[in-house]
Amino acid sequence: MTQLGRILVIGATGHVGRHVVAQAVGAGVKVRVMVRDPGKALVPPGVDVVRGDLADPASMEASLLHVDAVFLMWPFLTGDGATEVLDVIKRHAARVVYLSAAGVDLDLDRQRNPIFEFHAALERAVTATGLEWVILRPYSFASNNLGWAARWRTGVVRAAGGAEVRSVIHEADIAAVAVRALLDDGLIGTRPELSGPEALTTEEQAVAIGEALGLPVRFEEIGQAEAREQAVAAGYPDDLVEALFDGAGTFAVQPVTSRVEEITGQAPRSIRQWALDHAEAFR
Ligand SMILES: NC(=O)c1ccc[n+]([C@@H]2O[C@H](COP(=O)([O-])OP(=O)(O)OC[C@H]3O[C@@H](n4cnc5c(N)ncnc54)[C@H](OP(=O)(O)O)[C@@H]3O)[C@@H](O)[C@H]2O)c1
Repeated sequence: MTQLGRILVIGATGHVGRHVVAQAVGAGVKVRVMVRDPGKALVPPGVDVVRGDLADPASMEASLLHVDAVFLMWPFLTGDGATEVLDVIKRHAARVVYLSAAGVDLDLDRQRNPIFEFHAALERAVTATGLEWVILRPYSFASNNLGWAARWRTGVVRAAGGAEVRSVIHEADIAAVAVRALLDDGLIGTRPELSGPEALTTEEQAVAIGEALGLPVRFEEIGQAEAREQAVAAGYPDDLVEALFDGAGTFAVQPVTSRVEEITGQAPRSIRQWALDHAEAFR
């Protein structure tokens, strides 16, 4: 957008979306959010809150009136309904910024796990709209570590894949790139791969969070079966657990990229910073 128009944020109550809203407001942009329950949405003053549901594309029309660019995340585990959602977006907006995932490979007929499969479907649907598009491909979110928070005080973190190396990214850095993608023209037609500043094993992430908070923990490696049971017990929906564990080990080592700094001018935040920003959840 060459002039500051109005953006619509979908997924505005989520990990990334809430930062997109806050940072876009900070940039002086008119922001609207589309949420399923406006009564529950906590947004900064001045943000326009409109009810709408991705599962019912017709319900999205009101949220899209006079919108120039849309931040779209996809909360479902299949691409069903994506074309219908994008048809509605296309009738109103000029640009869509889609939150995909690093690891999607559009040259493959079949993606390496069900999560990449729906993101590939969405990426294809987004690029087929004829709209200006930017597709964000972040590596693992640091916010995945919130799964440890409730039991942090026990002093023990139990997880599978302790040696898996991830270049975890703070959700605020994904949002910072999203805001640039919504407002500037330089990223149109690109798929930046976004990472945090360092690649850490799962165990190293636990140690770093403990050090940052002054609440050290011992890391205990568990098997995939126990980790799956732990995820179910923590309330993750069955289909998400299946998809997550189907994707376990997808990357031997996630790379560190320089894209966040190149795009935003700021070095990406560390896992320690992320821990401090989420300290309340761990105490
Ligand atoms: N976690 C990772 O490591 C990782 C890595 C790469 C990509 N991703 C992708 O990032 C996305 C998740 O982003 P996130 O973590 O920011 O989201 P999140 O925290 O899981 O939040 C989900 C958002 O979706 C909204 N939502 C759910 N169902 C909806 C519906 N039917 N209509 C409209 N809104 C709906 C929720 O709003 P309400 O519930 O308030 O209505 C909420 O704002 C996923 O597509 C995931 O595959 C994740």
